[in-house]
Amino acid sequence: MDRKRIRFGIIGLGLMGKEFCSAISRWCHLLSDGNIPVLNGICSRNPVNWKWYTDNFPDIEVKTDNYKELIASDKIDAVYCAVPHNLHEQFYIDIINSGKHLLGEKPFGIDLRANENILKAIKMNPGVLVRCSSEFPYFPACQRLIKWLETGSYGRLIEVRAGFHHSSDMDLNKPVNWKRMVEINGEYGCMGDLGMHTLHIPLRMGWKPVSVSADLQNIARTRPDGKGGIVPCKTWDNAVLTCKTKDPKTASEFSMVIETKRMAPGATNTWFIEVYGTEGSAKFSTRDPKSFKFLRTEGKEQGWTRMDIGSQSAIPSITGGIFEFGFSDAFLQMIGLFISELSGLTTLGVFRTVMPEETTWSHKLFTAALESYRSGRTVEIDYN
Ligand SMILES: NC(=O)c1ccc[n+]([C@@H]2O[C@H](COP(=O)([O-])OP(=O)(O)OC[C@H]3O[C@@H](n4cnc5c(N)ncnc54)[C@H](O)[C@@H]3O)[C@@H](O)[C@H]2O)c1
Repeated sequence: MDRKRIRFGIIGLGLMGKEFCSAISRWCHLLSDGNIPVLNGICSRNPVNWKWYTDNFPDIEVKTDNYKELIASDKIDAVYCAVPHNLHEQFYIDIINSGKHLLGEKPFGIDLRANENILKAIKMNPGVLVRCSSEFPYFPACQRLIKWLETGSYGRLIEVRAGFHHSSDMDLNKPVNWKRMVEINGEYGCMGDLGMHTLHIPLRMGWKPVSVSADLQNIARTRPDGKGGIVPCKTWDNAVLTCKTKDPKTASEFSMVIETKRMAPGATNTWFIEVYGTEGSAKFSTRDPKSFKFLRTEGKEQGWTRMDIGSQSAIPSITGGIFEFGFSDAFLQMIGLFISELSGLTTLGVFRTVMPEETTWSHKLFTAALESYRSGRTVEIDYN
């Protein structure tokens, strides 16, 4: 096929904006026949943030401090948008209505109402491809776990544990930033920040929680404001959601525990999933990123097998199959799958990045979790 250039504009030039640019600038890494993303526009409210981009990508044609100018430009085909959560609703809706394809960041709206409004805009623009970013499942060892899940090797599910643990907030002298402010990050706190990552695989497997009982903790109640003062810090630091869930493969119920923690001592971006079943169990964690662990339950005694998985990625790459794989590689794979979809190349069986309706299911869970914590009750979740 003729390989077309897809001209990307980036809105939000912070931590994730840079990751995105770095990933698409090494597109030659992937052995893919799809179209080729190129950076052609940047937008940040603060032009100081442009420097890294213009130093490294001198050919960028659109530079603006107003996202409306970027999405109005005929020099832009698609947008990667990584801005604070309070801006998702308006920005995503405007991008979608402008006809540009969108790879947006989670949680896809600061709350359920915002998310539903984004989904309405998607419905009105069926020609626009919209996906939500989630890169961790693309670690090759986790891809192996997904294949294992798809075969139903677990038998009947007993329990699934999925989580995302951080620990930099253990430093109580860390100044507050927008991710720790309810009005910008959202009432979900750590769930909005980390939760979609933990739910990508479970929701894709059809494991939609039926009910939730939530335990939420606000551990650091104040933080330095970075200007010599101390301010209240009202966001939830840690959340443990215990969900009754049904597996469509066996029509039986099991427990699913979703943990999102910003204060998990010793954990640096530890994303994990553990699946326990009557016939088999499996687990993956970014703490031990190349190992796929599994066991078969055939009798009384069981032992884990740990298999080293090299760089055997979903989209093949130039990297030798035995070499190590990391966060930037997973992020590149995720963008690769977005571009494959845009190029009409995605075939059945490919583990796509997060679909818009999956973000809504995550919002329903987090909204029910807030209600559960407030009321002290288990809350049923209505997906209609
Ligand atoms: N996929 C992942 O692994 C991952 C990791 C971290 C954050 N995120 C998500 O990415 C998004 C951004 O997070 P981040 O860590 O990059 O934050 P960040 O604070 O590093 O960057 C956000 C950027 O948005 C810019 N911005 C704010 N208002 C703007 C406006 N009106 N117009 C244009 N730009 C504006 C800020 O100047 C800043 O540069 C969030 O949704 C977050 O949840 C995803």
